[in-house]
Amino acid sequence: MGACDAEALAHYVAVGELGLDGRIAPSPGVLLAALHAGGEGKGLICPAAQGAEAAWAGSVEVLAAPDLLALLAHLKGTALLSTPQPGEAEVVGRGPDLRQVKGQETAKRALEIAAAGGHNLLMSGPPGAGKSLLAACLPGILPPLTPSEALEVSMVASVAGELDGGKMTRTRPFRSPHHSASMPALVGGGLKVRPGEISMAHLGVLFLDELPEFQRAVLDSLRQPLETGTVSVARANSHVTFPARVQLIAAMNPCRCGHLGDPALACSRAPRCAADYQARVSEPLLDRIDLHVEVQGVSAADLTLPPPAEGSTDVAQRVAAARRVQSERYNGHGPRTNAEADGELLDEVATPDEPGRKLLADAAAAMRLSARGVHRVLRVSRTIADLAGAHQVGRIHVAEALSYRRQAPRN
Ligand SMILES: Nc1ncnc2c1ncn2[C@@H]1O[C@H](COP(=O)(O)OP(=O)(O)O)[C@@H](O)[C@H]1O
Ligand SMILES: [Mg+2]
Repeated sequence: MGACDAEALAHYVAVGELGLDGRIAPSPGVLLAALHAGGEGKGLICPAAQGAEAAWAGSVEVLAAPDLLALLAHLKGTALLSTPQPGEAEVVGRGPDLRQVKGQETAKRALEIAAAGGHNLLMSGPPGAGKSLLAACLPGILPPLTPSEALEVSMVASVAGELDGGKMTRTRPFRSPHHSASMPALVGGGLKVRPGEISMAHLGVLFLDELPEFQRAVLDSLRQPLETGTVSVARANSHVTFPARVQLIAAMNPCRCGHLGDPALACSRAPRCAADYQARVSEPLLDRIDLHVEVQGVSAADLTLPPPAEGSTDVAQRVAAARRVQSERYNGHGPRTNAEADGELLDEVATPDEPGRKLLADAAAAMRLSARGVHRVLRVSRTIADLAGAHQVGRIHVAEALSYRRQAPRN
């Protein structure tokens, strides 16, 4: 309309939803647009409400305007827009403290290892044993996101339009979708492609409670992202790839009624019902879970015990120390945690000493471990050694890692 100099506008990328009255309303993906604009050597025009989000892109000039008139006034130099500052949300909602959990020492230990090395974990046991409670404690022991991780997580949230008030967060994602979740909700998709829960959990935790209750097809669609750390959503004539580097934490009852193994409570169909129930989770998915623990029910007597001396703060310190060892070890090699180490790199960092090697070879034959299974044991062994401050993986670390390994069923 000639309201301003078209030349001046050529140096900007503009994003926003323009209303008939000239107002500029928020629109998803502003952080990515800002990073893109910066890469092209341009500035960004975006809705005022999202200036704090765009400002995370760093040295990019951001014009965050509430409406067209304010934008024009700025371009003409009559009333300048203020420069938005990057917003940072407080670290909130760290969940319950491990001190609340009575007993369950094995499960707590497994949770600590999972947190330290980014490993997948499955807890199974009767209802009311504290599986959901243990999982809810995880955010309280995981280290906060590093600045570059926070940027990655915020980019996904930005695309999903879920970056609250444009505030980037250091809180590690923890997503727990309900078991009725659809495929697009979990892995992404829909008419306007949106990242799914597995991408919203990028660099954090995807918690699937009551694992066998999820639709089988939905669970199987998680296998590939769990391996590669990315998820591709097919569209009519293209596909979209989102990051999906998650730690899977799952919980399940051993059978539908949950009381298998307790003769007083088990239903009349036990133990056949258990086999049916467990078969709802496919073998390849279970094979991708490094740590399997059986959580036993707690007795009323256990519940009246004094709270354990050690709480989430102590565990979080050990986890943070182990993560520091890992980030120094992998500095510049790609992986962030032991769970991501692969191939030659894994051999280099996790090859056990001679007794450890012998134990692993014997166990691999006896437990009929797949090559993937052996690699998973090695990664967990490396984390256990890191928690112990050991330079080389020893027999004792391999032995503990093997104790969490699930045995393939014999048929
Ligand atoms: N080991 C435990 N120590 C303390 N409280 C427990 C424990 N296990 C269960 N509870 C109590 O029971 C409630 C239900 O436990 P929950 O974690 O939902 O069990 P599950 O998921 O195994 O069915 C918890 O919120 C907690 O109050
Ligand atoms: Mg539960």
